[in-house]
Order: sequence, then structure tokens, then C-alpha cells
Amino acid sequence: MSIEPRNIRISPSVIATDLTALGEQVQGFDPSVVDLLHIDVMDGNFVPNLTIGPGYIASLKKRTSIPLDVHLMIEAPERSIDRYIEIAPWALTVHYESTRFPARLLQAIRGAGIVAGLTINPATPVESVYDLLPWTDMVLIMSVDPGFYGQAFMEPALERIAKLSSFIRSGPRPETMIQVDGGINVRNIGDVVRAGADIIVAGNSAFSGGDVNARVAELKRLANEALPGA
Ligand code: DX5
Ligand code: ZN
Repeated sequence: MSIEPRNIRISPSVIATDLTALGEQVQGFDPSVVDLLHIDVMDGNFVPNLTIGPGYIASLKKRTSIPLDVHLMIEAPERSIDRYIEIAPWALTVHYESTRFPARLLQAIRGAGIVAGLTINPATPVESVYDLLPWTDMVLIMSVDPGFYGQAFMEPALERIAKLSSFIRSGPRPETMIQVDGGINVRNIGDVVRAGADIIVAGNSAFSGGDVNARVAELKRLANEALPGA
């Protein structure tokens, strides 16, 4: 079986910008550079921080053609998943630690034609997701404890990505995507890609100063340089 060459995508995490201005700012994002928009939903319970909900995301979707990559950091997402499914984002990702019903949630997301994402915190063993892979289109490895942007990348994430990548690539669904989120910048993005990531989330490194398109283009250039055979 041959595996297609990897297509690296960068997903800027919008909580790292001024959310009251994002509706305007997003008009200037070049869809050929900014592949996805990563939206962090935090409920002040699963994580200490509180951000935005389905109303904001539905409004943002009307202002951009860039696919929305929604990361739910909320306790018991089964209580509100229908509100997010209605929006029809590109992906909906739920935390393994936040629910007793991950398979049911993933099936509901995939059943609506949305990429079904499952994410694990840095302290959750990678093996936790193995039995859920039949229902999972994308695994998100957190490389920081969730809750805030601008935190330092946790180095053990690299081994975790590599372990998951070799399990997935040698399994029945090698196309399952691996996303990595937290503390990724121009200095470590190459290592993250070499470990096996397909989708890179970038908060601080995409938004802190300068032009977002240029920052994302630079991250993507470095990511592509790190691909095998590049
Ligand atoms: C952390 C969030 C991340 C965060 C990434 O809880 O899930 O998406 O915004 O920001 P950086 O890249 O600055 O760590
Ligand atoms: Zn996130």
C-alpha cells in the first residue's frame, strides 16, 4: 500500500488575535496560504478560560471561505454538540478527557459530513485513542495543557506524535490526520512535521506582530522543507 505525499496545512488559532476585530481581519487572509482557521471553544470548566460559542462561530463562517477547524475544550460536549454540528464547520474536535461517550460523539460528527476530531492532553497516554480510531478522522495531540495561547511547547509531544504516527500509518486507515496544537513556532515546526504531523496549529506564532499571511507562509515553507524527500 502506498501512502500519498503529505500535504501540510497550517491552522492559525484565532484566540491569539482581537476577536472583536476578527470579522474584518479575516477578509485579508489569503485562502491559498491560510488553510484553516482554528477556533478554540473554552467553557471555563473543562479549562479555566472562557472564549466563544456557536453564535460567534456561525457569524464568523459567513465572513470567510476558509474552512473552520473547531476545537471544543468543553465539559460533556454531548450536551451541546448539535449546536456545533448545525454550523457545519470543516472539523469538530472533542477532548477524550471531557466525555464518557467519545465514539458516539465522533459518529455524530462524521455522520454530518464533518471531520471527526479526537484530542488528548499531554498527560493522557497516546494509546487511549487507539480503540477509537475507526470513528476518528483526525487526532489532535496537545503540546501544551489546554486553556491559553502563548505557552511553551512541551518536548515530550514529539515522541508522542511519532508513536501515534507509526501506529496510524501502519494501520487500516493511514489517511487519518494528525494535528498538533500548542507552542509551535518557526524554530520547532520542522521537528513537529518530522515526527508526523499533518496539520499545525499556530496561535502566537501566526498573530504576534506582522502580517498573518506572511507569518503563515513562512511556517508552511519551514514545514514543507522538513518533509521527507524535500
Ligand atoms: C490552547 C489552544 C491552542 C492555542 C495555541 O488551549 O487549544 O489552540 O490557542 O496557541 P499557541 O500556538 O500560541 O500555543
Ligand atoms: Zn486549540
